[in-house]
Amino acid sequence: MSSMSHSPQTICVLGCAGFIGSHLLARLLAHEHYMVLGIDREKNKIADLIGNPRFNFFNDDIKNESLVEWCIQRSDAVVSLTAICNPALYTQKPTEVIESNFLHPYKIAQICARHKKWLVQFSTSEVYGRTISSFANDATGKTPDRPSSVEANSDYILSEEKTPFILGPVATQRWSYACAKQLLERAVFALGFEEGLAFTIVRPFNFIGARMDYIPGIDGEGTPRVLACFMEALLKKKPLKLVDGGKNRRVFTYIEDAIDAVMAMLANPSAAKGQIFNIGNPTNEATVAELAALMIDCHKQLAPENSSYNYRTEDVSAAQFYGAGYEDSDRRMPDIAKAQKVLGWSPKTNLPETMRLTMMDYLKQYAHAA
Ligand code: UGA
Repeated sequence: MSSMSHSPQTICVLGCAGFIGSHLLARLLAHEHYMVLGIDREKNKIADLIGNPRFNFFNDDIKNESLVEWCIQRSDAVVSLTAICNPALYTQKPTEVIESNFLHPYKIAQICARHKKWLVQFSTSEVYGRTISSFANDATGKTPDRPSSVEANSDYILSEEKTPFILGPVATQRWSYACAKQLLERAVFALGFEEGLAFTIVRPFNFIGARMDYIPGIDGEGTPRVLACFMEALLKKKPLKLVDGGKNRRVFTYIEDAIDAVMAMLANPSAAKGQIFNIGNPTNEATVAELAALMIDCHKQLAPENSSYNYRTEDVSAAQFYGAGYEDSDRRMPDIAKAQKVLGWSPKTNLPETMRLTMMDYLKQYAHAA
């Protein structure tokens, strides 16, 4: 691996005020080594970082191509994070989802290729789609078999180089997001092949932590991702809704562990360039029902003043919760051997600790709002 002294100095972070962007920005600015040029149309999540002398912030949209190009030209590496990544919108606003996850970031990739700049493109664990095992089980019409360990069925382990992508039919618009991200990955790869674009693709597996999404009715509207949905329920003393009984599994990855991986990439360009990395914590797997139970337990400990609260979950169908056109990934279990070997990275934070740290922050942030 190359040393820090060979790594880029000026990082352009597109979407620097989002969930991942705000954590990456804080970490970059903690190192004297890095200068940041950041663009975001929001700024609430980075209020304490605006004014840092090594941070040049542009409160604008990444559709402002001349600004994007200006920043890219002055950077050593570009981290492209902007995306609509909220499943409730995949079925409600699919054209916006496709534009946000393919059209706009593709233009950014073209600018990077033109100016010979290294692009670190965020993709998604969702490119793997329904997973090969759920597909096989659907074909037999049987309820999917759920092995208790990863080793029990290696079809479940998603590998960057080997696993095929399986998306549902076109009318099942849930897959509009995954399909757009997949095309973006292929376009970035193609720009590397045809024009020599230096790229790294990151596939995040359910990063969670402080500042993820919003609480509906408090600082946003609509249906956020599962962590914020459950936090809303806990804050407002409502039942936690389990879509299809909460049977699907995710690996919930602590955001600071995930940022460690991105920092390792930026510090080791020669190792990271040309690679696609799964970034997730395989030991943090839980069903959504298990996540709800863990969050309820954690809330009892962190907010004992709610002891009279009747904590409960409620089963809802996917059609009730998301409307028509929704379909789920049953299980997303990453193979992280490449990130471990190439970047020397491993996630460190277990699921109970991830929840404790995340919920402490949410409870502090929304203490006076609920
Ligand atoms: C998300 C998004 O597609 C992307 O933001 C992202 O790329 C990816 O995951 C990721 O974070 O890696 P998904 O995991 O399905 O997809 O999103 P969540 O909204 O967090 O849902 C997780 C599971 O919880 C799903 O099975 C969903 O049906 C369920 N859920 C969600 C509930 O049971 N109750 C709720 O209130 C909300």
